Amino acid sequence: MTLARLVDILPASAWADHVAGLLADRLAARPNLVVCLPTGSTPRPVYEALPGILQARSVSAAAATVVLLDEYVGLAAGHRARCDSMLRRGLLDRLDPSVARFIPFDMDDMSPQEACTQVDAAVSAAGGLDLVVLGLGRNGHIGMNEPGSAPDAPTRPVELTPSTRAAAIGYGVDPPPTHGVTLGVAGIVSTREIWLLATGAAKTGILARVLDGPVTTNVPATLLRGHPGLRVMVDDAARPNGPVR
Ligand code: PGA
Repeated sequence: MTLARLVDILPASAWADHVAGLLADRLAARPNLVVCLPTGSTPRPVYEALPGILQARSVSAAAATVVLLDEYVGLAAGHRARCDSMLRRGLLDRLDPSVARFIPFDMDDMSPQEACTQVDAAVSAAGGLDLVVLGLGRNGHIGMNEPGSAPDAPTRPVELTPSTRAAAIGYGVDPPPTHGVTLGVAGIVSTREIWLLATGAAKTGILARVLDGPVTTNVPATLLRGHPGLRVMVDDAARPNGPVR
């Protein structure tokens, strides 16, 4: 991977506006964009910035479809730590008008496996994903595709690793869920465009492995390498070579 060509490195103060601005560009070019979005702390400032940027540019998300990247198993509807709740609160409820369609994992009325099948069917019915946005887990996971996930892993229920469970505690659920459901590696890499986001010094080590280490299922984000639509967007705190000078 050529770092300079595929990686956008921004000062921390400009990173969120950069990513949100590119999302606004995609929505302007393709109003009925089908985009898969993550939750977690990394995209939060992007979602904070997006409504204002859309408004300033007179771009609407009203025809877009948003697909949820992953979800915890076993949390009650409306639980604050549920990924669907976080994405609604952090972004969808703040868009005016909001998106045409939101495709979450509905495990209130069906099993985790059935919810995965339903998400895949809904994505297909929407015409497939145009863009997947991903945070980078400290263990290199993408969505809840934990280390060991195969390149052809489908949308499926998964067991969460200790570090992913620990992160869930930070979102307000203790004891944390043991399982989740996630868009698979196969669904991610079959998408035209993939944005991998990483911010903060805590991601420097794993980002270096993702960019320059061996491609391995032990670091699932390395499975994105070589994808023609991959774009890595990091702030200068996360960049492996230290702050931009
Ligand atoms: P974070 O999580 O954005 O909260 O760091 C990323 C991830 O684990 O996917």
